Amino acid sequence: MSDTEVDLTDERYDKHREAGEILAQVREETVKKIDIGVTHLEVAEFAEERIRELGGEVGFPVNISVDEVAAHDTPDRDDERTFGEEMINIDLGVHVDGWLADTAVTVDFSGHDQLVEASAEALEAAIERIRPGVETGEIGAAIESTIDGYGYNPVVNLTGHALEHWNQHAEPNIPNRAVAQGIELEAGQVIAIEPFATDGGGKVTEGNRTEIYKLDREDVPVRDRRARAALEQITEEFRTLPFATRWLDTRRPEMAIRRLEQHGIIDGYPILKEDDGYLVSQKEHTVIVTETGCEVTTL
Ligand code: CO
Repeated sequence: MSDTEVDLTDERYDKHREAGEILAQVREETVKKIDIGVTHLEVAEFAEERIRELGGEVGFPVNISVDEVAAHDTPDRDDERTFGEEMINIDLGVHVDGWLADTAVTVDFSGHDQLVEASAEALEAAIERIRPGVETGEIGAAIESTIDGYGYNPVVNLTGHALEHWNQHAEPNIPNRAVAQGIELEAGQVIAIEPFATDGGGKVTEGNRTEIYKLDREDVPVRDRRARAALEQITEEFRTLPFATRWLDTRRPEMAIRRLEQHGIIDGYPILKEDDGYLVSQKEHTVIVTETGCEVTTL
């Protein structure tokens, strides 16, 4: 149990709940939008616009990861990719005043229902176990054994994570497999649980495409005018949350990105993928750990 009393009626939790509610609605609308022949860019822009229309802010660029890609793909400004008979993971985030919600779902046109079900059922199994005092390793074990039961592998080097104020990826991590050393969850923590299932080996590696970045440090002088303008937008608009190259107002965002990266001001998140020819499914919800269990904010 937690030794300090947590007030779950606190305003910050209401903002987490509001973010979750907006996100759940946008997720459902976005799923309906996805179809064969529709462009990635259209879907990403639709979701990001709907989040704002419903009163939220975009927590991170809409991730659209297809087939062997597990995470971190998002369209660039001139993206012309369209959906085909593929497995599509959509990962979305919303924040209200920096308080976050994070959710993901797989839309499958590839005909692999069981793989989609494996990550969905693993998420259910994980959520059932969440309460103060449960070890993160126990949650990981539930995820692993569920996916194992379908004859697939969990992606072991991707994890769930806590959500803190303006911090989309905080400790503790929630492993997608049994680990010996776990951390005990506490009431009041806000946690994103995200099992990934694959018919591949279960370990993703970095691919050669990076469209998502995050501010690392801003105390470095930048002379280049374009890079300086981009940095200003980043610190004011996105702060410490991930952003997409296509969100930058500057005329040639790739140039500004390159300069800021060279100075160590921003960090990139390359796409993460299984080996070619394999598929990855994903499902994610955000929960608030309560005194007796948890409350799912993104249902
Ligand atoms: Co997440």
